[in-house]
This record gives sequence, C-alpha cells and structure tokens, in this order.
Amino acid sequence: MNPESISNDAQLDASGKLIHLLGLKGLPKKELEHILDVADDLLDGQGNLKKSKALDDMSVANLFFEPSTRTRNTFEIAAKRTSANTINVDLANSATKKNETLMDTMQTLKAMQIDMFVIRHKKNGLPHRIASNIDGVAIINAGDGINAHPTQALLDMMTIRQHKGSFEDLSVAIIGDIRHSRVAHSDIQALSTLGVKDIRLVAPQYLQYKGTLTEGISRLDNLQEGIDGVDVVMTLRLQKERMVAADIPNEQAYFKTYGITEEKLKLAQPEAIVMHPGPVNRGIELDSGVADGPQSVILQQVTNGIAIRMAVMVVLAGKA
Ligand code: NCD
Repeated sequence: MNPESISNDAQLDASGKLIHLLGLKGLPKKELEHILDVADDLLDGQGNLKKSKALDDMSVANLFFEPSTRTRNTFEIAAKRTSANTINVDLANSATKKNETLMDTMQTLKAMQIDMFVIRHKKNGLPHRIASNIDGVAIINAGDGINAHPTQALLDMMTIRQHKGSFEDLSVAIIGDIRHSRVAHSDIQALSTLGVKDIRLVAPQYLQYKGTLTEGISRLDNLQEGIDGVDVVMTLRLQKERMVAADIPNEQAYFKTYGITEEKLKLAQPEAIVMHPGPVNRGIELDSGVADGPQSVILQQVTNGIAIRMAVMVVLAGKA
C-alpha cells in the first residue's frame, strides 16, 4: 500500500479524542504537544524517569513481527513503569504459525482482556487495518513497513524541544535513506505540524523521499548544502532489507559522500544536535567521533523513548 494513501482517521473518535496512535499525519498540533508535555512531566529535574500508577488496571501486549531492540524493550519498560500488565507475545511460537489469521489472533488476545496492542509489522497500513476491524482496544503503531513510526518521531520532537526550546525558527536536515524510512516519514509530519519552516531532505536520488513536498520542505542531494547552518542533524540507517539489490550502495562510497564526520559537522550551527533512531552503523552513517561526540543526543533519544511511550499509553487510556 502506498503510504500516501493510508489514512489515520481511525485514531480520533467523533469528538476528536485520541483512541489509537497510528501516525502523525492528521494529528492536531495541540494533541501532539500534549503528548510531549505529558512525557516531559514523566522526567524529574535530573532527566530521570519517574514511575506512574496510571495503568495499574490495564494490560498491554507487544506484537513485534519484525526485529527490534530499542522500540520493543522501551515499550515493555514504558508499560511496566506505568504499572500495566505486560506481555510480549511470542510470535515465533504462536498460533499464527498454525495458520490462524492475524485478526483471529487479535480477537483471542482481546478475549484475554488486553486493552492495548503495540504492533510492528512489515506491511504498510497493517495497524490501521487492525484498528478499523477490532473494537474496544487501543492500537499503537510501533512501525509499519516504510509508512510510519509515530512514537519515534514523538521522541525525536521531545529531544529537539529539550535542546532548542521551540520549533518555528529551526533548520533541520534529515540525511540518508529517507525513501525507506518510516522514521523520516513521521519526522517530516511532526516537524511540519510543529511549524518548522526549513526541513531539508538530503539523500542521493535513489534514496530520496518520494512523497509530495509541502511548504518549507526541500530535497537536496548535496550534503554540504544540506547541512549548512542547520540546528538539527537527523541521520538514518541504510535500510538494506528494504532495498532492491541494485539500489544497495557501496558503503564506503556512501560514507564518503553522506557520512557525517567531525569535519562535515562543522558546517552546521556550532550548537547543532546530532540524532539517529538507531541502530547506528558506525562508519556508514556517522563516524564514531560524531556518534559519541558532545553534539550527539542519541542515547538521550533512547531514554526519551520510554517517557514518550509511557505518555502515549497514558493519553490513550484517558488518564492525562
Ligand atoms: C528504526 C525502525 O525500526 O524503523 N529503528 C527504531 O525504531 N529505533 C530505524 C531503523 O531500523 O533504521
């Protein structure tokens, strides 16, 4: 399914209340900022995560049909820190392997009184289909194909806001495999909603964003131009598993042109932050000096990911 034709309408009920989190397209700015505010309140003054009792009467199931380290673990930690019962459904050994349909598996889990499902799947739009077919449960999209990864974009916005305060005057470069990146697709939505007027999509032609450009968004293939004077440098992994063989670049050549080194980073603002959703391939997207350097906020993104996922669950449960 073409990401541009996927609608997130099912995530808001008739009164505009958020009942699922499927994607950031169509999510009102007020609602997005509310999630960021709730997440900020889940950190104490030192940036440490608080605990909450908000979901002590709820059960959350993680359904990850694709590999994941940080997203799955941070969802699990987030559910536990909000006092929910949490299960990681063992999909490798589940009845879907005995040809049970996914909808039947979902109905079965619902009958076990699961209230929220966190779903990652390689098919664009699958969480949306589930949300439209199963009533009375909340669906959280943890990454569908190349379409969307809303909690990653929310944690990215939280991190940017911690460093930069506001969005309107920022210049942001998103660099790398934008074409196959659900993270980039959701980040573009979030940055636009929050009023960023200079969003530069920097990639070689074959990895470039294929969607429609709205105001303030530009496509560039020259890294030097793309990074010049920006406040935020967002880098992305080369997602080889989603490329046709002919498109897989030579990694050394890619690093030479698009990899972020300390030298190239000097073209950005001196206070620019460097982000990456992980997993990082050192020496391909970023050199280690940058990944571990003073401008990198990569590990802060991971911690913020827990706060954001807690906030999303609390908001969906109507507890904030
Ligand atoms: C991303 C994903 O899976 O979409 N990772 C993540 O969620 N932290 C990005 C990637 O795999 O490159």
